[in-house]
Amino acid sequence: MYKIISKKEIGPKVRTYEICAPEIARNAKAGQFVIFRIDDKGERVPLTVAGTDPQKGLVRIIFQEVGKSTMQLASLCEGDCIKDFAGPLGRPTEIKKYGTVVAVAGGVGTAEVLPVIKELKQAGNRIITVVGARCKDLIILEDELKRESDLLLFATNDGTLGIKGFVTAVLKDVISREKIDIAYAIGPVPMMKAVAELTMLKRIKTLVSLSPIMLDGTGMCGACRVSIGGKMKFVCVDGPEFDAHYVNWEELASRLELFKNLEKISVDKFKY
Ligand code: FES
Repeated sequence: MYKIISKKEIGPKVRTYEICAPEIARNAKAGQFVIFRIDDKGERVPLTVAGTDPQKGLVRIIFQEVGKSTMQLASLCEGDCIKDFAGPLGRPTEIKKYGTVVAVAGGVGTAEVLPVIKELKQAGNRIITVVGARCKDLIILEDELKRESDLLLFATNDGTLGIKGFVTAVLKDVISREKIDIAYAIGPVPMMKAVAELTMLKRIKTLVSLSPIMLDGTGMCGACRVSIGGKMKFVCVDGPEFDAHYVNWEELASRLELFKNLEKISVDKFKY
């Protein structure tokens, strides 16, 4: 059992937890994830490791209440326990000195970008971070992003922070005036796809972190399969990061829709 040591709300329906999981805290690297299961009957849900404290044995996760399992997780309190918390899973982000890095984050994808830019900054890279959300109140981790970025830019749909519009407008401006050595994009599928289309025009290598449905997290069940450059890959063992210019976005988007009806039934049952 894995105890929730601290719980904090950092945005509307967005929470950060510190979970006591010393083994994972010692071994997890940026880009890796865990799969949690609240109880014996719970579904398995992947979540990025947003940070660790190896001394205290704590793993930080950040999640948004979007389905039954995340709602159930949000209903737990400090001191409560989660049945399974497996990890670290997936391949870590390749950290090295590239030069200038632009990291684009959308919504709760910001939690996944944070550990990546933190390590890339430590490796001597110049970091430009672009964050997008529907409005200012939905921007999370602003102070931490500021600390790890040389330049932090925002785009909101309603213009309450940064430019009014999408992250791609900001990115277009950045890549037109800066030499970018590598780009990262983590967020909703349409956002990552739009970033990929933009960076492809300038031939900027772009990595995206994919979050398909997962079950075992060990490459056995096939639930997380994606097509990359026409080849089948399993996100849990081959990813979660892939070259954005080779991802079959249409297939990924349609596979993410597969269980929407069942998810809705499950949420309704949990709520009422
Ligand atoms: Fe089963 Fe990846 S989650 S193969």
